[in-house]
Amino acid sequence: MKKVFIASDHGGFELKEFLQKKLVKKGFTLIDLGTHSNESVDYPDYAKKIAGKILKEKNSIGILICGTGIGMSISANRFKGIRAALCWNSKTAKLARNHNNANVLCLGARVLKKRDALRIANVFLKENPSKEERHKRRVKKIDLCK
Ligand code: RB5
Repeated sequence: MKKVFIASDHGGFELKEFLQKKLVKKGFTLIDLGTHSNESVDYPDYAKKIAGKILKEKNSIGILICGTGIGMSISANRFKGIRAALCWNSKTAKLARNHNNANVLCLGARVLKKRDALRIANVFLKENPSKEERHKRRVKKIDLCK
């Protein structure tokens, strides 16, 4: 089973708690890197925490949640080797993982219904990166972008 790190800012705190409870029930192992309340914090700090873990632990997956998911995805993608995908439905979650080998899922707590966010996270965690040559080639090229 893949290791899953999860983090949010205050805007994503409630959804983080909800997802964690539901995903653990589904059998996933989650490691919560905060935040731990509704108190205002800065999303780049949590994107950095997740990026550090994902880059250290091979094949681990991250979930980052803020109000829109945008701040988290911009921040996480600054770290080389992180492929953070802002997903808004099952299809984008499946393709982000399969085609883009995304290793971080970003969610917007203020733009998604809780049950939709759960569905998205579930698909993202179950899907695997494609073994097809064209996708592997494209993913390799991402790290060459300067
Ligand atoms: C915090 O109010 C909000 O700006 C943040 O959660 C996120 O939406 C940023 O992209």
